[in-house]
Amino acid sequence: MKEVLEYLRRHEDRWVADLCDYARIPSVSAQRQHAPDMRRAADWVARRCIGLGLETTTHETAGHPIVVARTPEASPSKPTFLVYGHYDVQPPEPFELWTSPPFEPRIEGRNVYARGICDNKGQHLAHLNALEAWLHSGLPLPVNLVFLIEGEEEVGSESLYEFLPRHRAELACDAVVISDNGIPSLEFPALTYALRGITALEVRIDGPARDLHSGLFGGSIENPAMALCQLLGGLRDSHGRITVPGFYDQVRTLSDYERTQLARVPFKEESYRALLGVTELFGEAGFTTEERRTSRPTFEINGLTSGYQGEGSKTIIPSWAKAKITIRLVPDQTPEVIAEAVAAHLRRLCPPTVRLTIVPGHGGAPYLVSPEGPQAQAALRALTAGFGHEAIIMREGGSIPIVSAFKRHLGVETLLLGMSLPDDNPHSPNEKFSLDAYAGGMRMAAHLWPELAAAAS
Ligand code: BES
Ligand code: ZN
Repeated sequence: MKEVLEYLRRHEDRWVADLCDYARIPSVSAQRQHAPDMRRAADWVARRCIGLGLETTTHETAGHPIVVARTPEASPSKPTFLVYGHYDVQPPEPFELWTSPPFEPRIEGRNVYARGICDNKGQHLAHLNALEAWLHSGLPLPVNLVFLIEGEEEVGSESLYEFLPRHRAELACDAVVISDNGIPSLEFPALTYALRGITALEVRIDGPARDLHSGLFGGSIENPAMALCQLLGGLRDSHGRITVPGFYDQVRTLSDYERTQLARVPFKEESYRALLGVTELFGEAGFTTEERRTSRPTFEINGLTSGYQGEGSKTIIPSWAKAKITIRLVPDQTPEVIAEAVAAHLRRLCPPTVRLTIVPGHGGAPYLVSPEGPQAQAALRALTAGFGHEAIIMREGGSIPIVSAFKRHLGVETLLLGMSLPDDNPHSPNEKFSLDAYAGGMRMAAHLWPELAAAAS
């Protein structure tokens, strides 16, 4: 093990240079003009795998390529683990809020700033670097590894959902390892044992056939923007509870053990407020911020559009109004049941003066795995060794829907071993990745394989 860690330390400059190279590719999956960059990013990661001597295949899909790379000469006597990551990144807009251009990585102190650097390029690259260190150490790698790196995570992983059932045999493993999530701080490395799920929908209200003069007609017909606001506003009460009938029926309550464990996650209200730029926190009564953020379902308006938004004033009753919504789900809620409960409630509440259209969107189930099993315990030991601090367990509020598909198609659980920090700004301007988290993550990844191998025997 010493040799592996020594190799990681000796090559730190190259790890950083490589990371910057990778982050320079604007692999924005949501935007058509970046299709060539998607290919470049897939090629970049495939070349990195080939350079390590991995058996590497770039699979074409209806969307963006999927890269599968495996350690050669798999030994049936060793357990196999699958490391999942994604080379696609979120759109960088709005550009003007970035201190430096999103695809020109900038190092400041111990941070590197670039779109996609913590979500997820830096994190799966840390695993590849740790594997390089193992392969050069002269020590036998105690596991077989398969890397599965996709390019559509940020837009719903459609191609991978298609791919998984058709490549079951090739992807067979004892567990999946994902580092596409975070830890509370470098002093509190954490195993994430639960993720929220998600269900998306668009709500549209149509009123008059065209925008109308609000003086001539206002007061005589319903205003679609007002109807939409009232409809959505009524879905949450003043205690932060969602009013949709049945919404909480499937929610698993937190055990005393979980509440105690979650209370160990470090949290300072003042710095949290400062980080997010709010004067006060808000959430469901009766729960701590960490519980609200990770273990309770929410209803969020992601976008709200209607009427005139241009310069000056325009006195109209808009013809339509629409909202983009996502609902975060927790175990044991299911996307289908909750989406239908919300839609039925909206249909019940919508006044007859306007027309309501609900367009369902993507969805993903929440995830929960016992933090007490042997693999989870092995992962905790690797986190502690890698970051040099006692690891804790946590839940996370974000969603990685493919985790449920791994369970369904490969029949295995996923170990979520994050490396990003709470102020890393994923999906926001000035996304960054901490070089200390990168180094700690590589050491954690290096320790993980002997720990997991020992847990399997
Ligand atoms: N890496 C994130 C998810 C994440 C971040 C999980 C931090 C846990 C901690 C991933 O790239 C992401 O953004 N997922 C989306 C999924 C959605 C589009 C289905 C999300 O959570 O919004
Ligand atoms: Zn993301």
